[in-house]
Formats: sequence, C-alpha cells, structure tokens
Amino acid sequence: MLQALLLTAGAAAAYSLPNSNGAPPLAQKCGPSSSKIVCMHKYASVMPYHFYREPSNGKDPGSGNFASTNVSDPSFAQVADADIIVYDEAAFKILGDKPSVKKMFEIEKKGHEAPVYVPSMGKIFFGEPAAPAPLHQFVIDLNKEPPTLKPYTFDPPIYAPNGATISKGKLYWAQSGGSKNLEGGHLEARPGIVAADPKTGKSETILNNFYGYYFNQINDLVVDSKGDIWFTDPQYAWFSNLSDTPPRLQPSTYRFRPSTGAVSIVDDTCRQPNGIAISADEKTMYIADSGSVNGDVSDSVQAMSGTTFNGTTVGRTIYAYDILKGKFLANKRPIYVAQDWIPDGIKVATNGYLVTGAGLGVDVIDPEEGTVVMRIQTDYPVQNLAFAGKDRKQLWMVGVGGVTRVNWELEGVKLE
Ligand SMILES: *[C@@H]1O[C@H](CO)[C@@H](O)[C@H](O)[C@H]1NC(C)=O
Ligand SMILES: *[C@@H]1O[C@H](CO)[C@@H](O)[C@H](O)[C@H]1NC(C)=O
Ligand SMILES: *[C@@H]1O[C@H](CO)[C@@H](O)[C@H](O)[C@H]1NC(C)=O
Repeated sequence: MLQALLLTAGAAAAYSLPNSNGAPPLAQKCGPSSSKIVCMHKYASVMPYHFYREPSNGKDPGSGNFASTNVSDPSFAQVADADIIVYDEAAFKILGDKPSVKKMFEIEKKGHEAPVYVPSMGKIFFGEPAAPAPLHQFVIDLNKEPPTLKPYTFDPPIYAPNGATISKGKLYWAQSGGSKNLEGGHLEARPGIVAADPKTGKSETILNNFYGYYFNQINDLVVDSKGDIWFTDPQYAWFSNLSDTPPRLQPSTYRFRPSTGAVSIVDDTCRQPNGIAISADEKTMYIADSGSVNGDVSDSVQAMSGTTFNGTTVGRTIYAYDILKGKFLANKRPIYVAQDWIPDGIKVATNGYLVTGAGLGVDVIDPEEGTVVMRIQTDYPVQNLAFAGKDRKQLWMVGVGGVTRVNWELEGVKLE
C-alpha cells in the first residue's frame, strides 16, 4: 500500500506521520523497513462507521484487543500484523534507522517476570512466578551470539520472584510466593525481599513479614539512591496458587529501609498495585494499578480460583506520584490507561519515557504529556521488561511463553 510517502533514506528524523490531507487511511506502513511498522492517523480517533470492538473475554490477554477492532477501513487490518504501531512522530527518534523486534526464546506458557540486567556480567536474570513455580530462575548470556538461555538456582533458592532490580552490584528480588512445604517440606519461603550476589549466587532474605503477617505477594520493587526499597504488595499470590495463606493485608505500596528494618506504607489507594518505577531524578514514582484483573480474596475460596479481567472497573492505570522528602508519595494522578489488558512491569528511559507491558506487547509512554507514543506488539502477553546491552539500547520483554529483544535508540536508565 501507500508506503513510499514516508520513506526517505537516512536519518530517522526524516520520517513523519501521515498528514491529514484528503481522507487518509487509519493505518499506513511507515518508517524504516527493518520492522513491520504502521503509523496510525491521529490515534485512529475517528473511525468510519460501522466499527465495533469486542470486550475481552476476561481470561485471554489478547482477546478483544485494539487490533481486533472491526473497522470498515481495510487499512486497519495491518495493525494486527505490525511489530510496531506508531502514534506520535516522537517515536521515530527512539526507533532510529534500524529498529528490530525479535522473539529470541520460546519458553513455557506460564508467567515470567523480574528481568534484571547485570552490566558487569552482560547477563539478564529473570524468574517464573507461576504455579507450580520452580525454585530456579533463568539467565540469558548476552556475551554469546546468539544469546543463550539457562536455568539458574541461587543458594538458598528464591521462590517465585515477580520483580527484580540491581543496586550497587546486588540483585534485589521481590519474592512473590509463600509456602511451608517447598522441597518436600525442607524449605519454607514467604513473600519478601531477597538480596543476592549475581556473581556467587549467594542469596539472603532481608524482609519476610509485616509485624508477623505474611505479605500478600511482593510484586515489584525499585531501590532509590539512599538504598531504600519501594515495593508493591498486591494479592495475586492467593488466586494463582502461589501462596498457602489468604491475604492478610490490604493491597499497598511500601518503603523498606534495609539498614533499620523499618517498613513504611506509602500508598493504599490502588486496587492491585503492580509494576513500580522511579524517575531518574527521584522526584516522581510511577505505580501500575492492575486491579481490573482481580480475584476473590476470601479465606473460604480455594487457592487457584484464578482471576478475571473486567475492563469496566478501575485498575488498568499507571499513576504518577510526587516523592516528598524522599520518603512519601503525594499528588497521585493517572497518566495512562492501557488500551489492552492491564499495565504490568514499568521501566524508565533516560529521556523520561516509560515502557510498560500491557497485553500482547508494550506501550511507550511520554509521562510529561500523558500520551502513548508507540506500541510494540508480540504474540504472547508481556509481563515485565529490562533495558540491557552495553549501551542499554536493547529492551528485553518476558511474559507468558516468550522472550523478545527490541533493538532501538531508546536508552534505559543506568542500573548497576
Ligand atoms: C464487522 O464489519 C463488517 C463490515 O462492516 C460487518 O459486516 C460486520 O457485521 C461487522 N461485525 C461486527 C461484529 O460488528
Ligand atoms: C496448588 O498448589 C498446591 C501446592 O503447591 C498443589 O498441591 C495443588 O494441587 C495446587 N492446586 C491447584 C488447583 O492447582
Ligand atoms: C464488571 O464489573 C462491573 C462493575 O463492578 C459489573 O457490573 C460487571 O458485571 C462486571 N462484568 C463482568 C463481565 O464480570
């Protein structure tokens, strides 16, 4: 179709969105030819009648997604097939001349989370927090071409980590599951935070309770420059059979100071707080509320009752908060609502953009404008992501059944 219009050799800046002369199609091929990219005309904000989008079936993150919208404009069919959907011209700057989206590994069709890049080793670790969760994690070696994937077990093992980050050479894992009977009763683990040395594999639990209560499901975390750890505690472990005990605490976000052991609440207004990210200047915190995916927390309901997505309820929103005195969160404001499914992990780029897993792909968000700049699509649900590579210009996306690498010009904030 109308591809030539935007194809100018050379600098990425030469690309632009379709203009509004005439009656442009909703979707057009655009940008560098290294990927299947489509540009949406003005966010498809006016669709020709008749159009209709089915709601999600509540179970499958891909069902009823934006690409499945039934529109009479035939150009829209390209959306389902695209690797990248561009909404805003700013996307061309971050895509560069040769963006690529490549599925690197097919993995088990279960949840995968907590990818963390260790620059000094050139390796990415990630976990499988989905029942029955193994006691090993995985490691991708980027020093090999093509990169390799292997299981990896820490000592002692870490159970069902759902989030991870690195600070001063140490890994911090959000252990999301709780069980008295791991390894045939030889090992007990509770939702908490586990610090680990990626070089020796030695791990150490640094938090496992709130005044004696088990946490519900520590989901994701960030470490600030003072060493305080901010983490979310939603309730998914119970519905997904990763916990032998129903939730005891309201879904909340906390700040933990390892040097004193103090845990302080910083937010209790999200239905299910999930991904968390801190801006590079440490002035803003971002929390994804994924409460549109929810389950029954009552003690009487058996574990593994599962979850359902309901798009008409609040809970597929990323909120920004001001960080006050380096300790508290204030001025909560919504900056993004997922077009598909719910926002999961969030990571921050050096230009301030956010990348979040949402349904079959990730959205790139300009938080200063509250707009989605572009989307990358996958054929499996993306749950969490990490910037990696020497220049941190690779994005690695893990989820239910796959690991995908994106090469582009968007650079992740340095974590090491
Ligand atoms: C989808 O669009 C076609 C063509 O406009 C129409 O015939 C069909 O009824 C639509 N289906 C739904 C579910 O809206
Ligand atoms: C939940 O997990 C327990 C222990 O890991 C297992 O015995 C049980 O069969 C699981 N329940 C379901 C419904 O999968
Ligand atoms: C979604 O939630 C709304 C509001 O709570 C409720 O009325 C509706 O029945 C729910 N839909 C489904 C499919 O569960």
